[in-house]
Amino acid sequence: MKQKPIPFNRVDIQGNELKYVQQAIGNGHISGDGTFTHKCNSLLEKELGVKKSLLTTSCTHALEMSAILLDIKPDDEVIVPSFTFVSTVNAFVLRGAKPVFIDIRPDTLNMDETQLEGLITEKTKAIIPVHYAGVACEMDTIMDIANKYQISVIEDNAHGLFGRYKGRYLGTFGTFATQSFHETKNISCGEGGALLINDENYIERAEIIREKGTNRTKFFRGKVDKYTWVDIGSSYLLSDILAAFLFAQLEQRDKIQSKRKKIWETYYNSLKKWAKANNVRLPFIPQYCEQAYHIFYLLFDSEKLRNRFLAYMQGNGIKAIFHYIPLHSSDKGKQFGKFDCTVTESVSKRIIRLPFYNGLESVIDKVINNSVKF
Ligand SMILES: Cc1ncc(COP(=O)(O)O)c(C=O)c1O
Repeated sequence: MKQKPIPFNRVDIQGNELKYVQQAIGNGHISGDGTFTHKCNSLLEKELGVKKSLLTTSCTHALEMSAILLDIKPDDEVIVPSFTFVSTVNAFVLRGAKPVFIDIRPDTLNMDETQLEGLITEKTKAIIPVHYAGVACEMDTIMDIANKYQISVIEDNAHGLFGRYKGRYLGTFGTFATQSFHETKNISCGEGGALLINDENYIERAEIIREKGTNRTKFFRGKVDKYTWVDIGSSYLLSDILAAFLFAQLEQRDKIQSKRKKIWETYYNSLKKWAKANNVRLPFIPQYCEQAYHIFYLLFDSEKLRNRFLAYMQGNGIKAIFHYIPLHSSDKGKQFGKFDCTVTESVSKRIIRLPFYNGLESVIDKVINNSVKF
């Protein structure tokens, strides 16, 4: 019998998702800021210890909100890794900023903090560390440099919910952090995100920006007798139907994270002998980082081998993928000048991500058995 292909990612119901979606509809309120949105925000605020969590329609939109909140203007510079998803950069370019691309460390594939100080100029307004694969960037050094030059830090924590650096949750270091609940993430509602705010001075304006530039939130709280246009803004509220789905997943966070830990460790332990014998590097996790178990990657010796592995897995019904195509050398990125990101270029050609989703345990043996036969 022909076996079913193994996708890279698939949705998996973890608990009360369907029941809560029905409840949201029964509540008679399915636009933003309903009961389930409040439940998700309070859970994130309490669990992580952030001053404010605001659910958004995506991590991309949470990044856009942070660029507006920091008053990013044309010619401001933001330091961002080239090895990231395009939204990390586009959110700032949309406001006219110039991205200054920083290379990554060869071990964690995170922003190379040793290059940071050399890239700072009078125009630098923000540093955007991306906790790649949910493994922390070197936050002590990054925060020291940011504080020294009084530059804001926005953590792109799309991968890293519930990961920690030296015991402290990711998302609690920067002025802001942004989360993704896209379907590929550990905890998801299809499309969704959150802006986490650690400096309370920004809360009031954030509530206005996400409400199309109006003070509608104040109006709902009875603080003003009508709401009106007070600032720039857009439509960044998540529907309460999606928040209901998300809340069910957030409730199961311990179960989800421990499942993913098991999957990650099964990959690591089953592949390490094969990897050593074939010069394939497995992920590196510094001992003081509690990772979020978001990605399991393999780093091959060459692009040719990586591509052969990709085609071989595809031929065996297994969807592995690769990312990120470096941003500094992309068509758009090149408009901002020349940047030395040699590690990014090399990693981008050699990396593979193996399938990784919450229900993978039933088929993980097939992925492993095929990998070691390559
Ligand atoms: C590092 C990073 N930042 C931002 C995003 C954008 O997330 P979203 O799809 O929620 O907008 C992604 C998407 O995967 C990502 O990997």
